[in-house]
Amino acid sequence: MTTLNRQVLLASRPQGAVTEDNFRLVDVPIARPGAGEVLVKNEWLSLDPYMRGRMNDVKSYVPPQQLDEVMVGQTVGEVVESNDASFKPGDRVLTPLGWQLYGVAKGTDLTSIDTTRIPASYYLGIVGMPGMTAWFGLNEIGKPKSGETLVVSAASGAVGSVVGQLAKIAGCRVVGIAGGKTKCDYVVEELRFDACVDYKAGNLFDDLRAACPDGVDVAFENVGGAILDTTLRLMNRYARVVICGLVAEYNATQPYGYTRLRSVLVNRIKMQGMIVFDWQDRYAEAREALVHYVVAGQLKYRESVIVGLDNAPRGLIGLLKGENFGKQLVKLT
Ligand SMILES: NC(=O)c1ccc[n+]([C@@H]2O[C@H](COP(=O)([O-])OP(=O)(O)OC[C@H]3O[C@@H](n4cnc5c(N)ncnc54)[C@H](OP(=O)(O)O)[C@@H]3O)[C@@H](O)[C@H]2O)c1
Repeated sequence: MTTLNRQVLLASRPQGAVTEDNFRLVDVPIARPGAGEVLVKNEWLSLDPYMRGRMNDVKSYVPPQQLDEVMVGQTVGEVVESNDASFKPGDRVLTPLGWQLYGVAKGTDLTSIDTTRIPASYYLGIVGMPGMTAWFGLNEIGKPKSGETLVVSAASGAVGSVVGQLAKIAGCRVVGIAGGKTKCDYVVEELRFDACVDYKAGNLFDDLRAACPDGVDVAFENVGGAILDTTLRLMNRYARVVICGLVAEYNATQPYGYTRLRSVLVNRIKMQGMIVFDWQDRYAEAREALVHYVVAGQLKYRESVIVGLDNAPRGLIGLLKGENFGKQLVKLT
């Protein structure tokens, strides 16, 4: 086994858009596991929009990423050496080890994964954190009913694709919003949404109104900005808005000026923010349901794979511009 570990550190905090200069690659000796600890060789790294928020030194739902430390993130990998009786070399695990090829974690911070039914990488996507987000955000806040219309933005992405497919299973009319014809075609033809609106085509309000002839009962918001403001104009009475993410604002230096709050008042809309960790003690229940749907072929899933840790910064920069098409991963081995 090689004795060196490559890591990507946060070198500086972005002002506006992330650049490659915000990161630094270093080679350091591979750490040895102490009592109760496990050495893992990472195989897949997940890139997620939340990472942009962590790069800012601001108060949020978790502390910010520290400068000169390994970039935060989830990985799946293989146990190399274990001082925790629950794990043995060769086991596959979900880890919080971040942007590095090897890492040492407490055994209590690792989750065993079953790769006999689905690939290991899916534990970073459809049956991982994004899948949990879709499941709990939709079922606990969106509460879709058969016959209702649901709109979901970033519809071809890791969270949006699962939200829309679950809402179809629940009997809704499902309308996606996505950037570009290729993504919209995929959303309708592969994911079987009823319609998908390309917000980059320049007619968002008219196109969304045409796609939602009975108005909107549930909006699952992943993007924010003009997309949320426009969707609010089409909401029905007693509609629900799940504020899951505001990716259009993450690189912005000024907050977006929302103009359609009146719709919340006159339509008695319930709008609620969500952070998936709030359902941490129920992940097993959601994972079991999602694995079932994936294995049964009822949920389709797409990955966008970049090869090599050195390319991870470019991957995150692209994700924040919509260059990914499906769940963004970095293949490390
Ligand atoms: N609240 C939670 O607990 C939680 C957990 C997970 C994720 N999230 C949020 O859920 C959202 C989706 O996350 P994901 O992991 O599923 O990512 P994703 O949808 O797989 O990828 C991000 C997508 O966002 C869109 N996008 C990126 N930059 C944009 C911009 N400037 N303007 C408009 N659209 C842009 C792009 O889709 P288009 O090309 O179609 O625009 C891009 O493909 C994010 O906002 C994320 O922060 C929240």
